[in-house]
Amino acid sequence: MQMDICYGGVPSKIPQNSMGIRGYDYVEFYVGSAKLVAYWFAKALGMKIAAYRGPETGIRDRISYLLTSDYGMKFLITSSLQPETYDVNSFIELHGDGVKRWSVEVVDVRETFNKAVKNGAIPVRLPKKIEDNDGYVEEAAIRLYGDCEINFVNYDNYNGLFVPGFSLPIQNIEISCETTGIKLIDHIVGNVHINEMDFWADYINKSLDFETFIYFGPGDISTKYSALLSKVVRSKDGIIKNPINEPYKAERLSQIEEYTQQYRGSGIQHIAISTLDIIKSVTALKSNGVEFLDPPPATYYETLSKRDFGLTEDLNELKKLGILCDVEGQGYLLQIFTKPIFNRPTFFFEIIQRRNGASGFGQGNFQALFEAIERDQEKRGNLINTDV
Ligand code: FE2
Repeated sequence: MQMDICYGGVPSKIPQNSMGIRGYDYVEFYVGSAKLVAYWFAKALGMKIAAYRGPETGIRDRISYLLTSDYGMKFLITSSLQPETYDVNSFIELHGDGVKRWSVEVVDVRETFNKAVKNGAIPVRLPKKIEDNDGYVEEAAIRLYGDCEINFVNYDNYNGLFVPGFSLPIQNIEISCETTGIKLIDHIVGNVHINEMDFWADYINKSLDFETFIYFGPGDISTKYSALLSKVVRSKDGIIKNPINEPYKAERLSQIEEYTQQYRGSGIQHIAISTLDIIKSVTALKSNGVEFLDPPPATYYETLSKRDFGLTEDLNELKKLGILCDVEGQGYLLQIFTKPIFNRPTFFFEIIQRRNGASGFGQGNFQALFEAIERDQEKRGNLINTDV
């Protein structure tokens, strides 16, 4: 396992990968009511409403709020304002609220886009400069699974708030909440249909010169009832990590299949956000009203207490909050998963803290995690028998 990778999604001005990718940039969600969802991101996640576009800024077909963390993580929340805003409306009608695109900041949009397309990427938006009085931003996009896109963006020639069309929020409301300390995007995970995982892993690896970092095959990730396969693809400097899951046959409906059925297609399942103090972050998030999956059974922490791996945190605190811990070589990672945040049981967040160079994805916790998801799946009446 390589230990020289960059953790926590910290963007680097001088990329260490062949595609000129500096790091994750913004993730755009298409939602039914951007105003209300932006409020939840501010109140529950403790993010700041940093910029806005809509009729007041000359944009008439859609409305967007840019939310930022203290460390510069960016989520863009967009809704349609008109029945003719087809890209947003068709997405919402089919999938419900979800992630439309994730963006990476690159040194040269044209160069990255042209290289990706030459390597086999499917273009969806050609490189384009968007200008206003503060300069210009360049963007382009390629296709990803389902209706999702990977966006390339460069801000080197722009001094405005975000991109042209955005201004300071119209109403400067103080939203009081606990400070959560959430930092940056650590990884973004997609769920795809049966037999699509290899296709999309190859597509990303070829298009963006990424590599498969970890592969979980048949039998590696399964509960009593359901199973899945997973491939982690990442940039060769480790700054972008994109695990892809697909359902695997088992006695009952795989949770990945529940996702693709409810979402009506492949798409983004979760975004992991890093923190430097998971106990503080999760305590604050809970106090702000974020719901997390049920904690694992007490035996999980008893087993953990018998292992000597230099745990810095108080195990009782981890147990109280239901935080999972996975030991990995000299390091360990702490993680916890929210319940799905929108109406359908599709998209959720993960909060993650990596210690001493842990670079995995909590493989030791898969059992506890998937059993917790399965308990909720059963409550929804979706843990049904399959014909296999
Ligand atoms: Fe994850």
